Amino acid sequence: MAKILTGGTIVTALETYQADIRFENGKINAIGFFPAQASDEIIAVDGCYLFPGGIDPHTHLDLAVGATRTADDFFTGTKAAAVGGTTTILDFATQDKGKTLQEALQVWHQKANGKSFIDYGFHLAVCDLTTSVKVELSSIAESEGVTSVKLYLAYKNTMQVDDAALLEVLEISKKAGFLVCVHCENGDLIDSFVKQAQAKGQTEPKYHAKTRPAFVEREATARAIALAEFARAPLYVVHVSSQAALKEIAAAKSQGLAIYGETCPQYLLLDESAYEQPGFASAKYVMSPPLRAKDNQEFLWQGLSQSLLATVGSDHCSFNFAGQKELGRQDFSQIPNGGPGIENRFGLLYTYGVMAGHLTLNQFVAVTSTNAAKLFGLFPQKGTIAVGSDADIVVWDPAVRSIISAAKQQQNVDYNLYEGFRQIGAPRYVFLRGEKIVAGGIAVEEPQGKYIKRQRTR
Ligand code: URP
Ligand code: ZN
Ligand code: ZN
Repeated sequence: MAKILTGGTIVTALETYQADIRFENGKINAIGFFPAQASDEIIAVDGCYLFPGGIDPHTHLDLAVGATRTADDFFTGTKAAAVGGTTTILDFATQDKGKTLQEALQVWHQKANGKSFIDYGFHLAVCDLTTSVKVELSSIAESEGVTSVKLYLAYKNTMQVDDAALLEVLEISKKAGFLVCVHCENGDLIDSFVKQAQAKGQTEPKYHAKTRPAFVEREATARAIALAEFARAPLYVVHVSSQAALKEIAAAKSQGLAIYGETCPQYLLLDESAYEQPGFASAKYVMSPPLRAKDNQEFLWQGLSQSLLATVGSDHCSFNFAGQKELGRQDFSQIPNGGPGIENRFGLLYTYGVMAGHLTLNQFVAVTSTNAAKLFGLFPQKGTIAVGSDADIVVWDPAVRSIISAAKQQQNVDYNLYEGFRQIGAPRYVFLRGEKIVAGGIAVEEPQGKYIKRQRTR
């Protein structure tokens, strides 16, 4: 049976207009004003915006970090994402040292298969660039639909790769048709700063931030850009947190280089004063890069509105305060890095982006959905509202008011980074390929998400 949404305002990255949307068999098949057939289900959504489902290009679900594992797996994490207005995620299938990329993908398929409420794809995070991994990389886009590969310039002795590895992967990416994503922080310097802090007995969470100053992010961003320029390959810089790193991206863009940047709600809305919270509470904010001085925020917002930054990812990597963040009570370097946010990304960007005047509605759609779809080979199947696209639609009720709180969240973690923040608007319904998966904040019981083999964009 076809469904028709009537009375809403469609918002894409380019247009805002009133029209009805008809969808059937998972796809949008008409947009405009048309007579309903007797068998059509009419859903009145007067006063609501109709946004393309959110695409979160940066999540870590069911990820083992040291001796612990993220609090959210694909079941809880994607349910939270759906309730918040996200219908597709790209999670990082992370290679263990000595293992193949195929093994990493198999493990991630097992984690997600049958447990995801929304559609998903995988970036491959390469930590061990052996000769056979290079061979695997050359065909991974075609064979597996994995059109993005992430490398870490931080996390020395675990995931960090050296410059030669980054350059090689950039060179392979041109023929193989994947986009290289990089975590830009100088891991060698961080390692040295951490050891110096430990030697001085500086153990509290705030030293996580002090040992990762913005210049280590700027340096690694500049270096990654230089290597991408040399290789003549595009580059996507994940979780840009500082004006200093953004300036490097802006300079590269002004020279015509294909450098893309992502930021996250935590860098737009939270700042380093969180590390001054008393006791060990500030461990909740231990993430990499760390929260920055508040004056960075306006530059990040401008970066989004001026298209210097393309996307907003949550970098959802949730660890409970109790029992997990607490692993670092005696030593900040043992606090598992990362924070939750998959549920709040869309609503925060609407509230503090659109309603606060930083972003237009169309820019909001671009940075929460369309740009990620285009960069990562999902467009136009996803990331827009158009005839032939998947009917992934968020019916957004702008009249709703709520307060963000861990007590009400779906995320399976014992705190919320945005506790007490006001939210304007909320999804009345969320449709995934035409199926209503969320109504009034409640998700369906059975996960219906599918793995999406992505297209090469080059
Ligand atoms: O602290 C963070 N961001 N943890 C997740 C892994 C990463 O660096 O993206
Ligand atoms: Zn990272
Ligand atoms: Zn991450």
